[in-house]
Amino acid sequence: MVKTHWKNTRNCYGWAFAFLHWLMVVWLLALIGLGLWMVSLDYYHPWYVRAPDWHRSLGVLLGVPLLVRLLWRWMNPPPVLTGTATSRFLARWVHRLFYVLMFFLILSGYLITTARGASVEVFDWFEIPAWFFGSAFLPAENLEDQAGWWHRWLAYGLVGLIVLHAAAALWHHFVLGDGSLWRIFGRCPTQLSDRRK
Ligand code: HEM
Ligand code: HEM
Repeated sequence: MVKTHWKNTRNCYGWAFAFLHWLMVVWLLALIGLGLWMVSLDYYHPWYVRAPDWHRSLGVLLGVPLLVRLLWRWMNPPPVLTGTATSRFLARWVHRLFYVLMFFLILSGYLITTARGASVEVFDWFEIPAWFFGSAFLPAENLEDQAGWWHRWLAYGLVGLIVLHAAAALWHHFVLGDGSLWRIFGRCPTQLSDRRK
């Protein structure tokens, strides 16, 4: 028997949160792939301009599901974690770190682009101005390089965390057999949903 519900419960993710999780997985992997690919392109490549345009636009727009997800998570907390005290502690910090990394990746990407006063153009739909340009609070000197350095290492950190997180999720599901992968698909086997009532 499998239960589904749209809101998170004490034991299971609802499908609304599960949808956001997987949407953002695809989105982030696309951003990472596009980011790594675009920095390798030479000037005459047909995607030399378009790839970074798409990367910046998709990157900035990721802020929308990120905000929705954090709000949703706050209004409707996720289920209690399964596993030992140590694995619950690690999972909690990895999950928090994901949110922190996403926020700082968007911020550093924004700063690389706007460091010299240019605005971020989002798919020819709208522009985000260079709010910090010329402000004493963030001096422009070297800002582009510094933000670029942070952006690259935050992205590499995110890749490392994704590998760790996916390996832990697969281990829990297939080796420990706790059915946790079902939870993040918004489907809750009754034995799992009944276990921690
Ligand atoms: C871009 C990649 C990914 C990111 C950023 C990500 C992020 C997260 C976050 C933040 C949570 C905790 C939800 C919360 O409490 O807010 C979570 C839960 C979960 N994720 Fe991912 N995830 C990613 C990829 C994956 C992949 C590839 C898998 C499967 C192989 C996976 C499986 C799970 C599972 C099973 C949970 C639920 C853990 C539990 O509470 O039992 N995730 N993910
Ligand atoms: C979570 C969101 C994002 C992820 C995961 C991401 C990922 C990446 C990756 C993997 C690279 C290649 C780094 C390298 O090897 O040098 C990159 C480069 C870059 N990203 Fe992002 N990015 C994100 C958001 C953004 C945003 C919002 C912007 C701008 C508004 C942006 C602008 C750039 C630029 C300009 C570069 C090229 C930097 C250089 O030439 O050194 N990114 N990004």
